[in-house]
Amino acid sequence: MKAVFVVVILSSLLEIGQSIGTRPEIVDDILPEVKQQGQIGYLNCSVINLSESAVVSWIKETTPTNTPLQISTNEDILQNYQVEGHNKYDVIRTVNNNREQYQLVIRALTENDAGNYNCQIRLTNLNYKQWPRKTASLTVQIAPTIKTRSDSNIIVKEGSNVTLKCEANGIPTPNITWKRTDGLPMPGGGFQYWGSQYDVYNIAATDRGQFLCIADNNVRPPADFAVQVEVMFAPYCTAQQNTVGQVQNRRFPAKLDCIVASNPRAQVTWYKFNPVSGRLEAISDNDKYDLNQQDDQRLKNDEKWYSLTIKQVQGNDFGKFYCHAKNNYGENNATFILFETMECQGPLCPSIGGNTGAVIRPSVYTLTVSAVLVMNIYLKT
Ligand SMILES: *[C@@H]1O[C@H](CO)[C@@H](O)[C@H](O)[C@H]1NC(C)=O
Ligand SMILES: *[C@@H]1O[C@H](CO)[C@@H](O)[C@H](O)[C@H]1NC(C)=O
Ligand SMILES: *[C@@H]1O[C@H](CO)[C@@H](O)[C@H](O)[C@H]1NC(C)=O
Ligand SMILES: *[C@@H]1O[C@H](CO)[C@@H](O)[C@H](O)[C@H]1NC(C)=O
Ligand SMILES: *[C@@H]1O[C@H](CO)[C@@H](O)[C@H](O)[C@H]1NC(C)=O
Repeated sequence: MKAVFVVVILSSLLEIGQSIGTRPEIVDDILPEVKQQGQIGYLNCSVINLSESAVVSWIKETTPTNTPLQISTNEDILQNYQVEGHNKYDVIRTVNNNREQYQLVIRALTENDAGNYNCQIRLTNLNYKQWPRKTASLTVQIAPTIKTRSDSNIIVKEGSNVTLKCEANGIPTPNITWKRTDGLPMPGGGFQYWGSQYDVYNIAATDRGQFLCIADNNVRPPADFAVQVEVMFAPYCTAQQNTVGQVQNRRFPAKLDCIVASNPRAQVTWYKFNPVSGRLEAISDNDKYDLNQQDDQRLKNDEKWYSLTIKQVQGNDFGKFYCHAKNNYGENNATFILFETMECQGPLCPSIGGNTGAVIRPSVYTLTVSAVLVMNIYLKT
């Protein structure tokens, strides 16, 4: 009876001695781990004075159901599975004197791995609340992905307000910037706009083009998407030269040039004002008229060059002409006056002093007229 009693006391004393004298501890805080999606995370738990009966566990605190999930006891993984041909989890134990490290390895990190993990030492002689415990945080950075976005094609009328939208997911929260792909300044000025919503007020025809939204959080690769903005506007006609002169009945042409800016492309019609009927008459390409649309490097986007050539100017050609353009957004015209001159006008005129037959003929004519005049004067006197 006595002997049994002593043994009980002794073993109680031993237990007390263990829990007071060499109580295990987690030393150092566990450094927070920040890794990118797909990489491997490491959480180091260093303990000292670990007794035989103590158990080191890793517990995932952040779970979808908010119920902590025990991952390991010592080096044994309780919930393992394979990712990319490796264990999802491992615990690597290294011993250095009375210091041991239980390193939790988490492979192929995903968003779900992010959160808090506890390293805990289970001591059977102590209450659960008194077990040594330390928390480690794991941040998994995620490359940006575009969440909401504008249509990739926006068609608006000149003068409208336009909103371009671009929101992105990602950890950390990505920065959103907008820029033009053609390198031109942004409608509001500057070459870059910061923010997920980009408002363009009173959009101008020159604001048309491709806008690129870039979502970047320094986790490769950044995400982007492009919006093509079309700005529609009513035609605007400009006469290259609104008065054109030519001599009549000498088979010389006259050319009227009209530059039409529009989007979409306008339908262009030339008219001549008929003073007899008081009406406008549409001109068609025929023996008398040549209608052309030419290219010119000086033209801007959305500009087209139209020309009307009156092949051989006659007396009844002089007067008012119109270059008229129309699209779904409106119409406009430019006015031209063709007037009579005494001398040939334009690049097709025979050059004075030139060697061509065309030059000689008028000279002979002039000489003849002069001679007749001289003779008349001579005869009268
Ligand atoms: C850990 O054990 C050592 C002896 O191995 C001892 O000197 C030390 O006081 C113990 N530390 C703690 C915190 O119990
Ligand atoms: C964790 O431990 C390993 C191995 O001892 C070491 O290489 C690594 O730097 C440690 N990591 C941190 C965050 O302390
Ligand atoms: C564009 O926005 C401005 C400022 O909010 C407003 O004054 C203007 O009426 C809007 N224009 C159009 C065409 O909606
Ligand atoms: C966003 O941009 C700011 C300013 O350039 C920068 O300080 C910050 O680190 C960026 N944030 C991310 C997530 O890249
Ligand atoms: C030309 O434009 C003016 C003013 O916009 C308009 O009054 C006229 O009717 C137009 N003429 C033609 C031929 O379209």
